[in-house]
Parts: sequence; C-alpha cells; structure tokens
Amino acid sequence: MSISIDAKDPAEAEMMPLKVHRKTEAAQDITLFELRRADHQELPPFTAGSHIVVQTPGGLLRRYSLCNACSERDRYMIAVKRDANGGGGSIGMVDDVAEGDQLSVSAPQNYFPLANDASSYLLIAGGIGITPILSMIHELQAKKADFRLVYCTRSAETTAFLSDLSSMQLAGRMLVHHDHGDAQRSLAIGPIVVDRPDGAHLYCCGPRPLMQAVRGMTAHWPSSTVHFEDFGTSTHAEPDGEKPFTVRLARSGETVKVLPGVSILDALRNCGIAAPSSCESGTCGSCRTRLLAGVAQHRDFVLDDDEQDSEIMICVSRAQSEELVLDL
Ligand code: FES
Repeated sequence: MSISIDAKDPAEAEMMPLKVHRKTEAAQDITLFELRRADHQELPPFTAGSHIVVQTPGGLLRRYSLCNACSERDRYMIAVKRDANGGGGSIGMVDDVAEGDQLSVSAPQNYFPLANDASSYLLIAGGIGITPILSMIHELQAKKADFRLVYCTRSAETTAFLSDLSSMQLAGRMLVHHDHGDAQRSLAIGPIVVDRPDGAHLYCCGPRPLMQAVRGMTAHWPSSTVHFEDFGTSTHAEPDGEKPFTVRLARSGETVKVLPGVSILDALRNCGIAAPSSCESGTCGSCRTRLLAGVAQHRDFVLDDDEQDSEIMICVSRAQSEELVLDL
C-alpha cells in the first residue's frame, strides 16, 4: 500500500540513500522494487506490517509497506501500483526510477503490527493492500502460526504475488477472489468473519470500501482484535461532497475553519496548532481527541460505536454539525 504523508513527521525526517537493486513487474500496473544499501551492509530492522517513506523523483514523500520477510536484513521490498489518477508519486516511481538509481528512504516504522499473543490470524487483503499482509505471512509461516488469507483483487492479471503465494503451500488457508471490477461480485465478508475463534486477530489492508465492509461485519469482534492499514487513497476523498465547518478548541478558546478537502489535523497545523498524529489515515489511533460538543462524521477505523459520541480521530473525520468543540 502507499499513502502520501506530511514531510514534517519527525520519525520519518531522517532519510538514507538506498540503491534500486532490482525493478520488476509484479502484476499489471504493479511494480516491485528491491532496495539495498550501496555498501551491502545491513539495513535498519523492521517487523511485519512496517512501512518506509520514499522520496519519489518528483520530490513527493510516499509511504510504502514492506512486503518481504523481516528476517531479510539486506533489502527492503516495496510494490508500487501505478495510479494514473493519483498525485503523481506512483507514476514517478514506476516511470522514472530505474535499476541502479538511488532513492532517499526512511527507516521503517510500524502502525500495523502483528499481535504476539493471538491464537490465530485472519488476514484480509484488497489489491495492493497485500503488501503488508505478505510480510505478515512470511512472519506467521516462520512462527508456524495458525493463519488464513483472504485476498480480493479485480482479476488474475492484477493480482500481485500470486505465484509467490502459490509456492508458499497455503493450500486450504488461502482464498483468492476476483470481482472483475463489478461491485455486485464483491466477496461476501459476513460469512468469513461471522465466527471468531477465541483469541483470533484480524488484519485488513485494502481499499476503503473493503475495510468499511470488514469493519461493519466485525462489530461482534473485540475492537482491539481488528486491525486496519489504510490504502491511502481516500483520506480526504470526495472533497466535492464535503462542507466547511468550525472547530472550537475548548482549552484555548480558539476557533479554526476546516474547509472541504482539508482535515481537521491539517487545518490546525495551518494555524500553527500541533496535535499528535502518525498514520493520518484513521487507523493508528494517535490523533484520538475528546469531542466535547457537536456531531462528528466518523471516517476512522479505530473508534467503537460507544466511543463515537465523545471522541474523534481528527486526521480523517469531519463534522455533521456546523461546529465541533474539541478538548484541545
Ligand atoms: S493519525 Fe492515525 S488515526 Fe489519526
């Protein structure tokens, strides 16, 4: 998966030069990059579910999940889906980066870590959302853990890592579903998650509609056992349908206007007001803020139903009312 990020994230500020050792096609419109140090030394370690930030040829910063096994200390593998309707980062990576080129890359970070104590793992990937899941599969196989993969894509041609997965002896533990671009043919998630084995954890990465379906169908799972990683395509989607609103900060008394297409977090930043954040896609929980008044339009994958009246994730959620009062 990839997501555009704010360059000011301090944990991602230190970049290192890595060489594109290999560039290959993983599926239609999906390119696999193998990144190594020029001196062949070990790279900073990572855990399954981690991502790195890469500076694209156009100077944009993009976050890509690592898809290789974390036991591999000499390379980072990322897969980039060429998005003709995106902000240009993926096009720059796919069209302008060649083997032998040098890229500026951050140390790995993980907003989507595997629970160590799960009795079993249900992994649900949609499209390029397979990337962190693939790293998890390497890890779970190495630990001989009990897991199952559900992988939804448009067609066989657009399915990355199909041959890798086929060679991993996942028979009976892998379901691959193609919808051929027809929402009517989407996989029914309900029957897959209706039973939760004791101690099971679920990990889902993919397009927002898939994550919303999984979220909606897992209300009977403890929220701490259902984990999401955003695909990064819709953090501020549909700005045309968004309305401006005001955020009032209870502690300082300041008010901030939030315009369509701008998150509350960014609106605060634009006014010089800092607030905690990490993923900026509504999945990690870092920006959880107490909601003192007003009605929120929740877009995150963190808050339970019983938390939504009193809390808000300000990186993605907006307002239904004209004003929100936040405990900031
Ligand atoms: S920054 Fe991760 S949920 Fe808001």
